[in-house]
Amino acid sequence: MSENSMDYIISYCKRRGFVFPSSEIYGGMAAIYDYGHYGILLKENIKNAWMKHMIQYRDDVLALDSAIFMHPKTWVASGHVGGFNDPQVDCKTCKARMRADHLLEKFGINADKQTIEFINEELNKIKATGKLVCQNCGGKDLTEARVFSLMVKSNIGSPTDALTEENVVYLRPETCGGIYLEYKNTVDSIHPKMPFGIAQVGKAFRNEIVARQFIFRTREFEQMEMQYFHHPKDTKELFENWKQTRWNWYLQYGILENNIRWYKHEKLAHYASDAYDIEYNYKSLGGFKEVEGVHARGNWDLSQHSKFSGENLDYFDQTTGERYIPHIMETSVGLGRLFLMFLDNALVEEKIVSEEGKEDVRTVLKIHKDLAPIKIAIFPLLKNKEELQSGARKIYNILKRNWMCEFDDNGNVGKRYRRQDEIGTPYCITFDFDSLEDGTVTVRDRDTMKQERIKIDELAKYFAEKFEY
Ligand code: GAP
Repeated sequence: MSENSMDYIISYCKRRGFVFPSSEIYGGMAAIYDYGHYGILLKENIKNAWMKHMIQYRDDVLALDSAIFMHPKTWVASGHVGGFNDPQVDCKTCKARMRADHLLEKFGINADKQTIEFINEELNKIKATGKLVCQNCGGKDLTEARVFSLMVKSNIGSPTDALTEENVVYLRPETCGGIYLEYKNTVDSIHPKMPFGIAQVGKAFRNEIVARQFIFRTREFEQMEMQYFHHPKDTKELFENWKQTRWNWYLQYGILENNIRWYKHEKLAHYASDAYDIEYNYKSLGGFKEVEGVHARGNWDLSQHSKFSGENLDYFDQTTGERYIPHIMETSVGLGRLFLMFLDNALVEEKIVSEEGKEDVRTVLKIHKDLAPIKIAIFPLLKNKEELQSGARKIYNILKRNWMCEFDDNGNVGKRYRRQDEIGTPYCITFDFDSLEDGTVTVRDRDTMKQERIKIDELAKYFAEKFEY
């Protein structure tokens, strides 16, 4: 199995406790996944890297955590009820479901935002050539394309209530809906000056048709979204700034410039003035795919919610005396897609020469240090020597207050290095007999595999310089 394949990443994630198929003992659920110990640590670090750059290092973006359940009218106002659909084609032979627009894409036809009539016309033309086949079994007996709603319904209230239009609520399909609804409370309570942003990280739910791309496209996923409220005269300049800011974030965390690119949306929603996606070259998915959107959305969102709620969502600029509905710039990225991107980018099988001079292969996750699930692993050289155990434990107990650490005394040191390399731990410390004499330990670097002796008293300072946070 090649290290570039999706099967390799899926198997790695399960074997090393990053991601598991959800409800596996009951046969699993398509496009739903659980994150294990190392997966959570990696996911939290990605989230943290986003929060730091989007909120902490700036002074114009505020945080929010809005509820998943929202008033049902929210999704009528946003156009999701009735309009958040994908065109679906079924295979009559194996019952596989496919996105009709993805099928057309394979024949160079862009069906983005096209009508179902257009899609069926194009599909029929290809059908006539005999080249339209099921992506699962290769069968040619496919249904016409139908509109399929991505909204996930639930109900709250009495558990015996039927799922009628009056009591239906939706699990939010995107997190930004909560930001629009809390715009007024944020302005009234914190009084930010224009332009300013509100950012949040949270779960979103979509009844996705295609469920075969691991955590790239799931039915329950986390989004990290930021809505930047501004005066329309500033849109052009702000759009370029946000594009640059988001682009730099990828480079900062180790993504090479030739592995990302901008995709410009040619067909814009009627309210949008510009829309670009950042695409990453996923080896595991065979090419460039969307990771993040940077979109200029005009004042459509707040205008719609103002219209449907009857609330005035104008902004009053005390300096100029102007009153207007703010325009919005959005940056929106899926945490699962970033997670997959960082693994796809960093997981390698590397030829090495062992200490005994033998050729060997090591699996190593060469991920940016600040994203690594475990920052430092601490080993006693031998398991059964009390003085080595207690010396190593002392270091572990001090360092773990600042960094996620792991204590490992299983097997020989070479095997421990391999285990830590595989999960991306940037540094391993070994406490040996010399440590008892001279108060130093060996610190080994994941990428260079070089070792150096560092004074135990200076470890905290040493690592403070190695990590950004
Ligand atoms: N508020 C705008 C919005 O939600 P989107 O293009 O539908 O726009 C934004 O989604 C980002 O959310 C995508 O670029 C992707 O990273 C992520 N995303 C969307 N659907 C997803 C899914 N089913 N599974 C995982 N991530 C998804």
